[in-house]
Amino acid sequence: MRRRIAISVVASSLTLSLAGCGVLEATGDSSDASPTKGNDITVGLLLPETANSRYNDFDHPIIEERVAELTKNQGEVRYANADADANKQASQMQQMIDEQVDVILLDAVDSHAIAGSVEKAKEAGIPVIAYDRLAEGPIDAYISFDNELVGEVQGRSLVDALGPEIDSSDKIVMMNGSPTDPNAKQFKQGALSELTGKVTIAQSFDTKDWKPENAQANMAAAITQIGKDNIAAVYSANDGMAGGIIKALEAAGVTDLPPITGQDAELAGVQRIVSGEQYMSVYKSYPQEAQAAAEMAVAKVQSRDIQFDALARDRVDSPTHKGIPAQLVSVVALTRDNIMDTVVADGIHKVADICTAEYEDACAELQIK
Ligand code: GAL
Repeated sequence: MRRRIAISVVASSLTLSLAGCGVLEATGDSSDASPTKGNDITVGLLLPETANSRYNDFDHPIIEERVAELTKNQGEVRYANADADANKQASQMQQMIDEQVDVILLDAVDSHAIAGSVEKAKEAGIPVIAYDRLAEGPIDAYISFDNELVGEVQGRSLVDALGPEIDSSDKIVMMNGSPTDPNAKQFKQGALSELTGKVTIAQSFDTKDWKPENAQANMAAAITQIGKDNIAAVYSANDGMAGGIIKALEAAGVTDLPPITGQDAELAGVQRIVSGEQYMSVYKSYPQEAQAAAEMAVAKVQSRDIQFDALARDRVDSPTHKGIPAQLVSVVALTRDNIMDTVVADGIHKVADICTAEYEDACAELQIK
């Protein structure tokens, strides 16, 4: 097993990409035998959904920008978003195979169902790099965050939020992500490793398509079952669902919200952290993940094996393949104490966007300016 990286070291490692260390320069150097392709390449990018704002706001534009930089503006990114529909993603992938793109970056809606398409790409000679979620089938590499660490950070934060009075009879609700997303399983595992024995998991849900409205409906059911005043905290696997959970609690008449976790540092999530409605989120440096993905894709197409290997030094196993070359980027807990040092410092959100009229006072109190 790979070694865990300390959580504290990562907050602003954003700029530390391999390119910065001079490891990856796309223009011909002596380190590789005759590159097969020049800069005129096409990268297919398949992203899974739009319910979460990260994909259109960050992943897509950052990958596009980095590919342009690496190819002197000659490379093209062909982008398709599946809107949480696995069949749609399979046809989008087939289209990219038919169009003979040079490489595919695939963030799977359903990591198992897409394996046949990965196989087809392989047969067509198109390398596939799994992006963020580990697709099954013969992928060439994987770039993601340390997803089990994400869950650990969430679980640990929930324990912190409950404070020294924490009691193993404290009832919490677990709102996990989509059952077709392998990350969701890892988030859950990581969280359970911190929560088991410390609290009682009164209800646990897997949320179809990661949709906030599904989380809201499940939360409403949990409230009926457990009682609105008996919920000590809610584990929410991401920010979008935390929004749905809060709506359900408010609709049930809860005024003093319990601690609720999240993930993705979405603007709405960060604002709820500022106002105190949401306890925490997990900040994942999208630029770090997306830039590395672009670097891997270009290195792969151009047969720059040394650069490619340097970008994928970890190893992971999928249900179908073992020892897949990978890069797993670390993450950090985002609470009201480190908003300036994380999302603002890395240019993910501007103070002006966070601190709108409604949040002005809370921002002033937290010195967000
Ligand atoms: C996960 C991803 C998260 C989030 C979630 C859907 O696979 O790692 O960052 O996007 O899907 O909201």
